[in-house]
Amino acid sequence: MQKFKLYTRFERFWHWTQMALVMLLILTGFEIHGNFSLFGFENSVRLHNSSAWAFMGLAVVSILFMLFSHQYVNFIPTTKKLKEQIQYYTLGIFRKDPHPTKKSLYNKLNPLQRLIYAGLLILIFPVQIITGLVYMYYHYPQNPLDAAGLKSAAVTHTIGAFMVVAFILVHMYMTTTGHSVSSNIKAMITGFEKEEEEHKAETKPNA
Ligand code: HEM
Repeated sequence: MQKFKLYTRFERFWHWTQMALVMLLILTGFEIHGNFSLFGFENSVRLHNSSAWAFMGLAVVSILFMLFSHQYVNFIPTTKKLKEQIQYYTLGIFRKDPHPTKKSLYNKLNPLQRLIYAGLLILIFPVQIITGLVYMYYHYPQNPLDAAGLKSAAVTHTIGAFMVVAFILVHMYMTTTGHSVSSNIKAMITGFEKEEEEHKAETKPNA
């Protein structure tokens, strides 16, 4: 096994900052929803709003980074080897079969992860941002939206929040399916991944 650089410093910063912000959004969001008491309702509202702005700022910076560094190719959904990947997660993994797809600088996510991430990036995050902004700027009574509009935004935002939680649970399980239980997490901390010789070097794709 050789080590090779998989995640740049910025990607690691982006990943862990986003994780911290999403955790904060979940904790404060569900406190606002009335599920438990942790920071106090008013503090939770303030924290939720400021972490939401930080989250949106980080999203803008990271989208620019992904575009300019060509790393956006990692997120383009593909059906190539999708069947093999599903078979791996449902059967192969328990027989200790080799991973059907190999990680590299421009292939960080397997086809199943690409589909799930695309759903998250295209559907869930924009939904949370749009409904969150509606929530933020709804000022009764001088508002173009009526109360029914606000209610739909709140319900959609809460459904989105449950989907984000579901994603995180699946994501956490997936982090344990690398070469060892902790290898994927270590790679996201150090930037380096262990891999077979043939996959360590890679040039930019033509895409
Ligand atoms: C991605 C993660 C996010 C999660 C998990 C999340 C979760 C939640 C939850 C569960 C609630 C309570 C909803 C209710 O009971 O009606 C809430 C409220 C709210 N969320 Fe989010 N949210 C997220 C992102 C955002 C974003 C990006 C924004 C802003 C653009 C935002 C703005 C708000 C606002 C303004 C409220 C109402 C709080 C208040 O009373 O001021 N949220 N959120």
